[in-house]
Amino acid sequence: MLQETIARVRAEIEAADLSTAEQLDQFRIAYTGRKGQLADLFDQLKTVEPADRRAVGQELNQLKQLAQARFDERQQQLEAATSNAPADPTFDYTLPPVPQALGTRHPLSLVREEIVRILARIGFNVAEGPEIEDDWHNFTALNFPENHPARDMQDTFFVKNVAAGPQDAGLGPKAPASYLLRTHTSPVQVRVMQAQKPPIRSIMPGRVYRNEAISARAHMMFHQVEALFIDENVSFADLKQTVYYFVQELFGDDVQVRFRPSFFPFTEPSAEIDITCLICKGKGCNICKGTGWVEIGGAGMVDPAVLEQSGIDPERYSGYAWGMGIERITMLKYQIKDLRLFTENDLRFLRQFESLL
Ligand code: PHE
Repeated sequence: MLQETIARVRAEIEAADLSTAEQLDQFRIAYTGRKGQLADLFDQLKTVEPADRRAVGQELNQLKQLAQARFDERQQQLEAATSNAPADPTFDYTLPPVPQALGTRHPLSLVREEIVRILARIGFNVAEGPEIEDDWHNFTALNFPENHPARDMQDTFFVKNVAAGPQDAGLGPKAPASYLLRTHTSPVQVRVMQAQKPPIRSIMPGRVYRNEAISARAHMMFHQVEALFIDENVSFADLKQTVYYFVQELFGDDVQVRFRPSFFPFTEPSAEIDITCLICKGKGCNICKGTGWVEIGGAGMVDPAVLEQSGIDPERYSGYAWGMGIERITMLKYQIKDLRLFTENDLRFLRQFESLL
């Protein structure tokens, strides 16, 4: 009995018309599905004489494989056909494509990202802070004494009548009355030190503002990256080695670095970092003013008073900080002789960076 049914079902399966997706679905329900005829036949296997059960079982298995194979093959064909079908049959798919007008990344963004990548490789993470900063973070916590001429080193834009806003969070003990556009990224150092415990290894890229006349070398708005490393036993040698590594990764092995003694209220000792001028290559130009060297940033060991202001024990920890201008570095890397190009949005300039995307 059961064998006869198997033979009939086999004939049906072999002959089934699977032209359409709907027929294929019917086929699945009728035969291979959980409530299909095959499942039913397997259930009936227990009614077969024990002596024949093995042979009938094998026959059923073969039938099941046949049904599944027919189903799979047809399903693949139908899927391939639908995915290749043109969505719009009236559209001429042999037309050449319309070129897509892609924008380019700004050179300053490209260089900032490269700086982040280079320093991320040696363990620095990225921290950010507000551009409207309070006087305490921008100056006082960084050891600029009140009413001290050191504050004039950075021609500050003060902000009038700023209502105390969310950027007040984390204000230092001497909450200030005045706000300003941050003149450097160093206040982010203070914020990071207030918020985290050593070891700290962060870089802080961002926009800064100074009341300066706009020229080929200076702007009232530009970008800096600060690097801060605080741990036990950090020394000036660590600072120098990191700067050497950084400069060589960014500019190549031929570039030389020198440290010149300098002064910053928040570092002691302090230095300015110069590299050999890549624009004039020794011939003298308006960027290096004929010296062959060009300054790329300031650096030093974080002054213990700054550590203490930010809640870090200066007896136990030491650290270095260094800050540099992204515009200056981009100018050196890509031989750009006028800083104003960065903000003029001249497409002839910006498109030159297309290939660097
Ligand atoms: N903040 C300094 C400036 O803008 C640069 C600097 C950063 C110096 C970190 C020392 C350490 O001039």
